[in-house]
This record gives sequence, structure tokens and C-alpha cells, in this order.
Amino acid sequence: MKRVLSVATGILMVLSLAPAHATAAAETPTYNQDVGPILLSNCASCHRPNQIAPMPLLSYKDARPWARAIKAKVASREMPPWFADPRFGEFSNDTSLSTDEIATISAWVDAGAPEGDGPAPVPPRFSEAGWSHPSGLDPDYVIDFPVEWHIDADGESPNFNLFTPLPLDDVMWVSATEVRPGNLPVTHHIVTRLMNTPPGMKIGTGPAWSGGPEVDYVLVPDPDADQEELAATRKARAEAAKEPKDKDADEAEDADDFQDPSAAEAGAGFGAYIPGVGASVVREGHARSIRGDLFDTIVWNLHYQATGKPETARPSIGAWLADEEDNTTEHALLLRESTSQGKQLVAPPPMTPEERAAAGRRNQAGQGLNPLLAPIPPNDANWTVTGFAAFQNDAVINNLLIHAHLRGRDFTYLLTYPDGREEILLRVPNYSFDWQYQYQLTEPLQVPAGSTLKLISRYDNSASNRLNPAPQKEVYWSEQSWDDMFLSLVGYTLVDEVKEKGTTDE
Ligand code: HEC
Repeated sequence: MKRVLSVATGILMVLSLAPAHATAAAETPTYNQDVGPILLSNCASCHRPNQIAPMPLLSYKDARPWARAIKAKVASREMPPWFADPRFGEFSNDTSLSTDEIATISAWVDAGAPEGDGPAPVPPRFSEAGWSHPSGLDPDYVIDFPVEWHIDADGESPNFNLFTPLPLDDVMWVSATEVRPGNLPVTHHIVTRLMNTPPGMKIGTGPAWSGGPEVDYVLVPDPDADQEELAATRKARAEAAKEPKDKDADEAEDADDFQDPSAAEAGAGFGAYIPGVGASVVREGHARSIRGDLFDTIVWNLHYQATGKPETARPSIGAWLADEEDNTTEHALLLRESTSQGKQLVAPPPMTPEERAAAGRRNQAGQGLNPLLAPIPPNDANWTVTGFAAFQNDAVINNLLIHAHLRGRDFTYLLTYPDGREEILLRVPNYSFDWQYQYQLTEPLQVPAGSTLKLISRYDNSASNRLNPAPQKEVYWSEQSWDDMFLSLVGYTLVDEVKEKGTTDE
């Protein structure tokens, strides 16, 4: 981007030496020649039918009536929404405009937004059904939520979980997944993950949340469960919890253990919908696995917001299948919080199933998600949390994600090489809860074993944070948006796994 820019500036300087009338003609940008291509590559991903933006910007006819608003929004850098500090890292999904592109759009609007000669630029292909894979293709594999969900015209509804069977018995290799909300304005977020229905339970009818409406997709006790077998399973689990962990223990059992990062990775399944996050696409030649062999249930964590009129929404999950040979696995690294306010935090021992169930219940009440983290005190403008992880093997970092709620203020991913050299991979100086991106590194970054990665995060629970709903309150850690979260996800591959694949291919 930057190199192209300086070339363009060079051309302008040469032109300014040419006779005045020639300069004027060359400097009047037109839609067909100059502005259309910019809008199609930087705006159309959202400004098209079935996407989050209020109007399409796919043609001259679309853009012309909005010319003044376009100039205002791009000049103020409100559009396109993008939050990474341009001094650090380069990201392939960066839609932000260069100073020259903004100048071109402004000059076009000032000149009366002419269409110009020549053929109109062709919009990229996109899915009519509202999927957002950059290829424009619909997914190969779709799971629709079984019913339409009804959202009241007003009032606040909590974050809640519904459960449906995972219709898959095998490993499925995918190059991309997406959670499509079905109704964008009402959807605050949807997080999906995979699990096993606990012994003695089944998917049945009950309240969606405590005091919520009756639905068919909650976990209820299974009256047909064999009580003797259940008692035996519970006893075995309690015994196992006391013993040091056996590496060869049943994989599926481990897969439900979210204390274990590799289990959390396997259970991440189809991913999430958060505003700004479309299809999650792995790097060319890579694949992610959906473990139908390990799990039998999809958890849909749903959060809706009222729009002033009754609404319905029916979310879906989509997957784009990968070629058999594209199976260099992309892993996900969670940076577990290690310090808060400079105080060292020590990872707790794994929880017993009983403790986990109790923590889950606290969660519903808005507490307990991160048992390590102290709550953010009232009116604190500068609360810090630092997550930390070490690479045990040579790895390649592909993408970085940050997730916090309304108190999130600024975030920095800092890599320390084994020789002590430090590099900022991503800095988000003004975090926005409304726009969350998975930052895709343009050049995947190779990191040697022994490198460490930190996510340094600051939260603002004061009244000067204009999004803060309640600066006078202590803030707990939970998935509820009035609480806050510290979540980092780093997509990476292992160099050894890439090499192994290379040899088998020969
Ligand atoms: C990541 C998605 C996204 C991208 C990319 C994006 N927009 Fe938007 N745009 C939105 C959404 C959502 C809104 C409405 C909410 C808002 O204003 O924040 C919006 C609003 C606007 C508005 C105001 C419309 C009104 O009702 O007044 C203009 C003008 C606009 N965008 C222009 C652009 C231009 C020009 C680009 C590219 C240079 C662009 N946008 C890129 C999502 C996007």
C-alpha cells in the first residue's frame, strides 16, 4: 500500500510541472476511473445487500446520492472502521484508506461526483444469501438453527445457551467457517462451540434461562439414563480428578476440559459472529478440523438486543470444505492472564466437575468467568491485565484477535524473541466493542521456539469512557456485556507440522 502511494505522489509532482489545463483535467477523479475501484475494494464488503451497512455502494447509481456523506465519513476516518495503529504490522483485511485515496474521494465529491468515461468497475462476486467468504461462494456445509428465535420489541435479554446435536460423526476438514446471524441488527453476538452432552442429561424442553421462555433446546435430566451406570461414571470421574493426569486418557473426556488449551481449540468448532467478524478463513494450503469424532453437541451462546419492534432470527453455521491435502492444521493459542495490576497470577489447579458446574452457575449471574482476575474497581480508568504464552516449538503466527467489552480501552500484542528482541505485532489504541476484527497478518510471522507473546490490555471503568454503562460499579468477568472479558486468540501453525506434510506429499 505505502509503496504504491509514494509512486502516485511522484506522478502528481511530475504532472504539476505540465501546462495548467492538462493538470486540471488529469486531477478531476471520476467514479469509473478512480473512485469506483476504491469503494469496491474498501467498502463493498459491508456496503452490499444482506450485510451490516445501511446502503449498498456497488455502483455509480448507489454511490452518487451518498457522495457528501461519503466524503465526510472517509475524511474523519470513521469509514471504513479500522482500529489498528498503522505503525505496527500489516494486515490483509485492512480496509483503511491511504491519505491519497481520501484526497481522491474528496476531490471527486468537490467536482460534483462525475461518473466519467470508460467501463464501470465490476463489483466483486458476493453471496446473495449473506455469507461473507471473500470468494463470494456459499458454504459447502450448512447447519441451520432448528427454529426461528423471537426477540421482544424492548427490554434486555441475557446471554444464554441452547444446544443442538452435531450432525457429524467424523473429522471434517474446513478452510473457512462462519456463523451467520440471520438478522443482523438484533444480534449482539453468537459464539458456537462443541461439547458432549453430559452423562445423565439430554437435549429437551425447559427455560432458555432462569425465568426465560420454554424452548426445546436446553439440557435436561434424561429420565431413561441408567442410574447405576451414571453413579459409576461419576465415581470414576471423581477418582480421576484426584489422580495426576494420564496423557492417554480418553480423548473425548479431555476434549470437554476447557482448562486445557488444546481441548479448548478442538471445541472451538465453528467460531463466532461478532460485528466486524465475517467468515473465519484459514491461510491457503491450511485447514482446521471440526471434530465430529470427539463431540456430539453444538452449544449456541446467543445474545440479542431489542430494536424497538418484535423481531425473529434464525442463525446458521456454514463451513467451506478443504481439499484432503490442505491439512496443515491452524491451532489457536489462548493467552491466559498472568498479571493484573502488576500482580502475578498463578494458574489454578484444574477444577473438578462439581466446581466447574458451580462456576458455570456464577457465570449466569455475571461472575466467575476468569477465576484468576480480580474485578475492576469502580471509576478506575487504567486497569491493566497482561496475558502471556510461550511458544514451545517453532511456529508461524497467522492472525490475532482481541475480545473485550465496553470497558476495553487499548490493547498491544508484544512478541519477545529468545534473544530479547521485542516487536509489537498489533496495537489497537482505541478499542471498539462495536467492531471486532480477526487481524490477518499479510506476511505470516515465523517465531522460533522460546519466543513469548504478551497481550497488554487496559480497561477504563471511569465516566470518561463514554460507552461505560455504570462507572460506579465493580466490573466482573463474564460473557455478559455489562461485565467484561479478557480474550486473546492467536491463530498459528507449527513449523514441524508443515514440514511433515511436505515429506508425505513427495
Ligand atoms: C466493516 C464494515 C464497513 C465497511 C468496510 C465500510 N462501512 Fe460504511 N458503514 C458501515 C455501517 C455498519 C454503517 C452504519 C453504522 C455507522 O454509521 O457506524 C456505515 C455507515 C456509513 C455511512 C453513513 C450512512 C448514513 O446513514 O449516514 C457512510 C457514508 C459510509 N458508511 C461510507 C463508507 C465508505 C465510503 C466506505 C469505504 C471507504 C465504508 N463505509 C466502509 C459498515 C462499513
